[in-house]
Amino acid sequence: MSETHASKQIDHVMHEHRLFPPSKEFSNKARISTAEQYQEMYDRAKNDPDGFWGELGRNELHWFKPFDSVYERNGDVATWFGGGQTNLSYNCLDAQIAGGRGDRIAILWEGEPGETLTLTYTELHRQVCKFANVLKSLGINKGDVVSIYMPMTPELAIAMLACARIGAIHSVIFAGFSAEAIADRNQDARAKIQLTADGLWRRGKVLKLKDTVDQALLKSPTVQHCVVLKRIDRECSMQAGRDIWWHEAMESASADCPATPLDSEATSFILYTSGSTGKPKGIRHTTAGYNLWVKKTFEWVFDHRDSDIFWCTADCGWITGHSYVVYGPLSNGATVMMYEGAPNFPAEDRFWSIIERHKVTILYTAPTAIRAFIKWGDQHVDAHDLSSLRLLGTVGEGINPEAWMWYHRKIGGERCPIVDTWWQTETGGILMSPLPGVTATKPGSCTRPLPGVVPMIVDEELQPVEPNHGGMLCISQPWPGMLRGIWGDDERFHEQYWARVPNNYLTGDNARLDRDGYYWIMGRIDDVINVSGHRLSTIEVESALVSHPMVAEAAAVGRPDDIKGQAIAVFVSIKGSGSTAGLADELKAHVRKEIGALAVPDDIRFTSSLPKTRSGKIMRRLLRDIASGKAETSQDTSTLEDYTILAKLRSDEE
Ligand code: WT7
Repeated sequence: MSETHASKQIDHVMHEHRLFPPSKEFSNKARISTAEQYQEMYDRAKNDPDGFWGELGRNELHWFKPFDSVYERNGDVATWFGGGQTNLSYNCLDAQIAGGRGDRIAILWEGEPGETLTLTYTELHRQVCKFANVLKSLGINKGDVVSIYMPMTPELAIAMLACARIGAIHSVIFAGFSAEAIADRNQDARAKIQLTADGLWRRGKVLKLKDTVDQALLKSPTVQHCVVLKRIDRECSMQAGRDIWWHEAMESASADCPATPLDSEATSFILYTSGSTGKPKGIRHTTAGYNLWVKKTFEWVFDHRDSDIFWCTADCGWITGHSYVVYGPLSNGATVMMYEGAPNFPAEDRFWSIIERHKVTILYTAPTAIRAFIKWGDQHVDAHDLSSLRLLGTVGEGINPEAWMWYHRKIGGERCPIVDTWWQTETGGILMSPLPGVTATKPGSCTRPLPGVVPMIVDEELQPVEPNHGGMLCISQPWPGMLRGIWGDDERFHEQYWARVPNNYLTGDNARLDRDGYYWIMGRIDDVINVSGHRLSTIEVESALVSHPMVAEAAAVGRPDDIKGQAIAVFVSIKGSGSTAGLADELKAHVRKEIGALAVPDDIRFTSSLPKTRSGKIMRRLLRDIASGKAETSQDTSTLEDYTILAKLRSDEE
């Protein structure tokens, strides 16, 4: 087939026409309630970023020293609020207390075994100050890297805020990673201290974190001390001179620790994210720009008000936990629900029981969780009163329209708007999302860019694509929350995000803009399936499969094919425990009907589960190797959640 212009674009084959405007009741009470309001903000941020962000910067953050410029383009990235000094921990704590919110609950926590704990802003401030003094007493100064490998307990948030308070840079590592992964990250970051716990609860079992850390520290030569939180109260080895118990160190620590004034561009944290190949990269975020971005996006997207109890189910080991469990909500004085454990312990209704008992008003979770709930069955939901909910959100992957509909009906009772938020570790906070009081939502679309976000979609020749054609999604104007680099690797930073489309941030995702101005994320650029010159997006094929009543989850990948270039292979997991006899043919017919002959899968394999990263993303790259019959994968499997699944998928082939 000749290389026509169209073949450089991604074909769009999915049809979704449902539209869900917010109710009058919701809109009337919302902070942003009309399309005109949004448009005015959007236009001002685009055309007068200096004025828009200058005003917000001055009004929304506390300045020890005022900034003298709003932003300056500086090579690939822009720097924000130059000359100013502020502090993330101050804005989350001291500023809230000064504003009269000291007695409000900041963190409402539930452990997996069932115990609960609340911390007011005043109490949280005190703990943070004490722990900041502990860090100082162990030789931690401004600019030092603190490696955190802890359970989802309030102490994890305390540790992060304590670092921010004194300008130490935290690197939070999700507490499911291996010793090897911790050591790699510690070495790359040159971490000076390790924070951990004796263990954590997961599905009723103890995960011995300290044992894993002991292994990791054998290969972390820069780490001098290890502070250990007692969570499980079990025996664990403590190395004299190196290891210190959290509670013992806290006993004698003073609660007086003023926040250190930090330059706007000071690194607040690094967070490792797995690249498509090779070693993980430490994404570097700043102080002022990041803080302003998460503060405002939290307010706009979640329409936050004082009566809310906000629950983001992400772990602080991911950017979602950084931005929407800790820094975004707390800099708005919000009450945050925090849960330690698994969604299916002691039973599959744990989330709904938490919402009912704590009267959660906003739930922000991942499509992978929603698909699991659907698979587990409606009876778990039906047993609980979810009427406290007023708003729902999703993040992490595209949501298949049928999963969206279930979330809307079953969890939202058809009254809660759904905000499908698109963003990345690199972007610091949400870039595209409905505004719940304004935007009529379409299932599967993250709708529109937030103020300050200027997207552009180009084909492989860097030409802008027409509406309804897919291409590479870039962001053409800097925004305050964007990453400022990859820790210790400027070259990779430039190569990965800036080299391909000059002066634009390359997101690595494909997207399409529809005729109503709505964006649809089509999956990663590298995952496109090329069948006879037609370039198909993974999510469209998968969504067609998921719209079949028996399908719980699906992953679509391309495998080499002599005639078509690539053939479509799909991996499908079904709801309940029904029989799959005859289902493959039925699914082929279903896809033909939903999107056409072009997208009919060549191979269909049924599987009980799909390989996922520890943050719940389907690992299509691994499936590609399996679909093409490779005995060994060339891909990085270190982020794979359940290694046995690979072997299972391979043995299903016979
Ligand atoms: C990638 C970023 C966003 C914080 C958590 C994940 C995919 C994320 C959506 C969405 C479609 C989405 C993209 C993106 N993604 N949200 N609402 N719709 N895709 O952060 O691990 O850095 O992953 O997740 O592919 O690039 P991350």
